[in-house]
Amino acid sequence: MKEIVRLHASSGTTGKPTVVGYTKADISVWSNLGARSIRVSGGLPDHKVHIAYGYGLFTGGLGAHYGAEALGCAVIPMSGGQTEKQIQMILDFEPEIIMVTPSYMLALADAFEKRGIDARDTSLKIGIFGAEPWSEEMRREIEQKFAIDAVDIYGLSELMGPGVANECVETKDGAHIWEDAFLPEIVDPDTFTPLEDGHSGEFVLTALFKEAMPIIRYRTKDLTKLLPGTAFSHRRFERITARTDDMMIIRGVNVFPSQIEEIILQEASLAPHYQITLTKKGHMDAMSVAVEGRPDHSVEAHTQAAKNVALHIKARIGISAQITLTAPGGLPRSEGKAVRVLDNR
Ligand code: DLL
Repeated sequence: MKEIVRLHASSGTTGKPTVVGYTKADISVWSNLGARSIRVSGGLPDHKVHIAYGYGLFTGGLGAHYGAEALGCAVIPMSGGQTEKQIQMILDFEPEIIMVTPSYMLALADAFEKRGIDARDTSLKIGIFGAEPWSEEMRREIEQKFAIDAVDIYGLSELMGPGVANECVETKDGAHIWEDAFLPEIVDPDTFTPLEDGHSGEFVLTALFKEAMPIIRYRTKDLTKLLPGTAFSHRRFERITARTDDMMIIRGVNVFPSQIEEIILQEASLAPHYQITLTKKGHMDAMSVAVEGRPDHSVEAHTQAAKNVALHIKARIGISAQITLTAPGGLPRSEGKAVRVLDNR
């Protein structure tokens, strides 16, 4: 403990949070990799960075903070929540960069709209989004709503925090892993057999620098595949859309929330907010999906879109789902990582 200068904890996706410790040298490497991540996202020392990842035990806020400071940016340490205040801070301080979960960025878009402000007119130019899965459709939506470049940042507490890998703004083709600090592998999640680049499996990471909590071949539970470098030589990985533990087994069928999301986002009249609820009807699993219509589309369009979603889920995944439409703004908004599934079985 004499050499530990900081404690954080993972968000506990699998139950109990894991506590992690850092030495001064660990924080220094992390800050450095964070700075690099912001730089490849297009960030420059003269930029102001609005950080809306939660501060506290979660690594998002302080991780992004130290990275931005190391790059020489001016940090606005807003943390998560207080949506109205977020909007005001963005308007007043005119940051070029925002770092936040993609789901909360969409909540901020709604808040701008409510105030009658076009989010495309803010000072923001770059958004660095991570901590939860998000899709290409969500990238398009965010980029279009805010007129910014949206890039992906990846990380996890056990390895460090945000900045294990980051997408390059010029290519936006998957996050590059900082391979001078981490050794990536992909293994078959059932047999643990290492797989070649280009094959999908569980992402396994070894940290090459850590003092306080050395970690070798950590099973992240994230599913992806390794891809060759493009913008620079460090290898990339395919966007993470699923974890081994967010798989729902519904009447024996394996379903990932990302599959449902993809279907919803194909409907122009539906908003990118949804929540899946699993229940038992007798001995049978039942799935219902709450979706929100977009305010600029008619109720008829929403109803038709909900029907399409049910049809596509049946056709592509093979299970019947009940789709419930809620009014625009009717679903709870995340202020950090979005909760997509309520398993009440
Ligand atoms: O979420 C660290 C972080 C903070 C990353 C801010 C990026 C931005 P944990 O709370 O320990 O750490 O959760 C780690 O979140 O194993 C993935 O399942 C998921 N995750 C993180 N980044 C991404 C991403 C932080 N870009 C877990 N895409 C990881 C998809 C992500 N999933």
